[in-house]
Order: sequence, then C-alpha cells, then structure tokens
Amino acid sequence: MAHDLSPAATVPDLQTSGDLIADRRFGYAMALLQDKDGEAAKDLFAQVLERVPHWPPALLGMGDACLLLEQDDEAVGFFKQCLALDPSDRLGAGPRLARMNEVEADDAIRHGYIAALFDDYAKRFDTHLIQTLGYSAPQQLHAAITAIRSHFEQGYDLGCGTGLMGEVLRPHVDHLSGCDLSHAMLQEARAKQIYDRLDGDDVVHALTQQHTASLDLITAADVLVYIGALTDVFVAAHHALKIGGLFAFTTQACAGERFIIGEDLRSAHSERYLRTQALQTGFEILAFEAVSVRQDRDQAVGGWLCVLRKSTDV
Ligand SMILES: C[S@@+](CC[C@H](N)C(=O)[O-])C[C@H]1O[C@@H](n2cnc3c(N)ncnc32)[C@H](O)[C@@H]1O
Repeated sequence: MAHDLSPAATVPDLQTSGDLIADRRFGYAMALLQDKDGEAAKDLFAQVLERVPHWPPALLGMGDACLLLEQDDEAVGFFKQCLALDPSDRLGAGPRLARMNEVEADDAIRHGYIAALFDDYAKRFDTHLIQTLGYSAPQQLHAAITAIRSHFEQGYDLGCGTGLMGEVLRPHVDHLSGCDLSHAMLQEARAKQIYDRLDGDDVVHALTQQHTASLDLITAADVLVYIGALTDVFVAAHHALKIGGLFAFTTQACAGERFIIGEDLRSAHSERYLRTQALQTGFEILAFEAVSVRQDRDQAVGGWLCVLRKSTDV
C-alpha cells in the first residue's frame, strides 16, 4: 500500500531515541532509504545504532536497508531484535519476518502494528484512500449487499475505520455498530455520527461479545487484509448472525491453498481458502466476485468480494 509502512513518526516513545545526534542521523538515514540508497542508509543506521543500540526504529530501518541490499540474513537479525524489544510490534517487524518465512503468516500481524499504522493514517485516510488510491470497497459491497436485501435490523461493521462503509450502509440498517483497533480512526468515525455504537475492539472479540444470533448483517471492507488465518473471524461471525444473516467482505487475492503476507505487508487470501472456510463454518456463498477495490502504485490490486449467508446453526 502506498502509505508509510513504518508508523514510528507518531508513536510517542518511538519518536525520539533520546539522543539528538542519533535522531538527526536517523532522519537522514530514512530519507536515504526512501531514495533506495541502501549502502548510504545502512552506513547511517549503523552510526545511529552505535549511539542507541536498542532503539527499535533504527533496528527496523537497518533491516530495511539490508533488504534493499539483498542481505536477507542480516535483515532477519535486525527485524528479530526489533520485535524482541517491542513485542507489540508497532513498527511491523512481524509481517516483514513472515515474508521471509521466519514467522508464521497466521499471526504475523499484531494488534500493536494495526493500531499504530492507522492512528498515524487517520487524519488523511479519507482523502488519500479515495482520491489517491481510488478506494471503492464500500460502494462495491453496498451494491452486492443491496442486490440481495435492502433492509437490516442489526448491522455490525468490522474494522469500521473512519466510517466509509457505515456511511453507505446507514440508510439500510436500523441499528448500526462498528469496531476498530485504532482510536484515531474511531475518533474520525465518531465525529461523523454515523454509528449507533462504536467499540475500540478487535473484530473477533467484538463479535464474540454479541448475543448469539442477534445480527442480520456483518461487513468487513478492506479489513481481513490485516488478518491471516480467518477461522476465528468466520466462527465468531457465524455465532453472531441470525439464520439468513449476511457476512459481506473484501480481501486481497493470492493463488494457492491458504494465504500469504504480500509485499505491501498485508494478507492476501486464496479463493480455495475462503470458500473452504465459508462452507466449513456453515455459510452459503451468495456472491464470490473477482474485484479490485483500490490501486497500489497505479496498479489495480486484485481481490475478492464475498457475500455469505448463515444457512445453518452449526
Ligand atoms: C483499510 S481500513 C478500512 C476501514 C473501513 N472499513 C473502510 O472501508 O473505510 C482497515 C481498518 O481495519 C482496522 N483493523 C484492522 N485489523 C483489525 C482488527 N483485527 N480488529 C479491528 N479493527 C481492525 C484498522 O484499524 C483500519 O481502521
């Protein structure tokens, strides 16, 4: 994705190393990394690490510089150190390690990374996503859902972000709730006064908190791309939906049997994986379309749009 993959800039205790010279060199090193000058960036990150050896942003930067220079073994060492020093992984060392097969893709993306990434992104999210990346998941999901049914009593929007999905759903849903891990995204959504209720919560936990068979619509627009294994999400959605209720979502697409962490550090799921998960959980597949919901570096990103219906109780 074209947004910054290292949200250190807005995470308070990662903003400064506490050493002014190290901070200044770190700034130059990051600029060199942006310019793809791996050698010079690595040299400067090494100088930073001499002064502040345990500062996670410099370790991550050093790892990224090594990757640019195709020094993968060295990169792995720096990413592992970064993760050990910041186990909540606000900088995203986990997904980098998953791409290098050093950690399982299942739990490569931690909540700390999501919260830091989107807390940083929240203020410019709507304009950047819509104007620069041509984001259209909410509109495409809205069309697919309303082609099946146009009125719902209880809806839940997973990973609601600033409320772009909620905005288009609102006229069709009597009571609309949403959840998100990023408090800054929730603040933007709250200001728009779209949702009846907003929870600062993870998607699986938020769904398990719902009464059994209480919802008739669950949406997840461009959210499952931050989750690897989807069994828990599908089971929790199935628990919360009434029989006949809909679960509508988009994902990024990959080939194969399961899912991967892509170059953009997001998950991509295969058609076979999604279909198997849906059927095993007790969903019927009403729509399964190849779509693109946004651009990345001027290329349409391939994905799936799915609408599932809870067909059985088990
Ligand atoms: C790309 S944004 C999409 C926001 C919104 N659905 C939309 O269509 O505009 C992804 C959102 O999902 C949230 N998110 C990612 N993983 C999550 C999780 N496990 N639980 C709750 N929210 C999550 C992020 O914080 C972010 O706000």
